[in-house]
Amino acid sequence: MITGASRGLGEHIARALTNYGFNTLLCARDMDKLKDLADEFNQQEPGDSIALPIDFHRPESLRDISQAIPKQWPPISVLINNAGYYRPAPLEDTNLNHFKKHMEVNCQGPFILARELVPKMARQGSGFVANILATGAVEARLNHCAYNASKFALRGLTLSLSEEFQDRGVHLVAITVNGEIDSPKKRSEQPHRDPSSFINPRSIAREIIHLYEQPRDAWTRELDLHPQIKPGG
Ligand SMILES: NC(=O)c1ccc[n+]([C@@H]2O[C@H](COP(=O)([O-])OP(=O)(O)OC[C@H]3O[C@@H](n4cnc5c(N)ncnc54)[C@H](OP(=O)(O)O)[C@@H]3O)[C@@H](O)[C@H]2O)c1
Repeated sequence: MITGASRGLGEHIARALTNYGFNTLLCARDMDKLKDLADEFNQQEPGDSIALPIDFHRPESLRDISQAIPKQWPPISVLINNAGYYRPAPLEDTNLNHFKKHMEVNCQGPFILARELVPKMARQGSGFVANILATGAVEARLNHCAYNASKFALRGLTLSLSEEFQDRGVHLVAITVNGEIDSPKKRSEQPHRDPSSFINPRSIAREIIHLYEQPRDAWTRELDLHPQIKPGG
């Protein structure tokens, strides 16, 4: 299950996990994009990919996720919380609604999904959850109070659940993407920037597979990914 699979990093993760051989549950609000992606994946292996509408601003849309899975599929054993909400603003322009929206997508949604899926993984004795953080989960940034709070909270949630579930076979990992992810839009916005100062989303997806494959005696709990070249460096 990959959240925020309709574009950006989530799409790359979905592609990598599908190529790896997983059945993929592609989640976001934009069903047209998700269906196109699922159709593309199902051309390789029919029936292996499903588009599922979820909206973290409407927690009721997260109910009964397990029932969206075809009977012949195995239970969900991998959850990638990638969906993100990012609208930086100074405190005086951050009203409660703005703050809540960050919390709903960046922390409350992953909490609801963890409540639904992680105990089931524990009962099976195995599972893997990767939560995508950002620099804003480990460093305060100017005018980022809502984003900082929500990503710090997601980091705390991940580490706490790791404490609670690792000895029951569930590997939870907080991945800090410590830099800007490469995309055509970012490149056109910053035409003079050294492209190698962006993080390639395919590299992040590859790291997720590496984490998934880790043996039980050497699990990473936190991973900090950053490009070798700093922007402007
Ligand atoms: N971009 C960067 O440079 C960067 C840097 C560091 C960390 N990150 C982190 O990496 C992750 C992916 O970033 P990105 O730039 O690839 O994101 P993005 O292009 O902005 O896409 C965000 C994804 O989240 C989904 N989403 C947003 N609001 C949602 C909601 N209410 N309910 C359900 N899904 C929702 C979107 O789908 P719909 O709109 O279809 O719902 C979309 O698939 C995020 O967690 C972000 O914090 C990004």
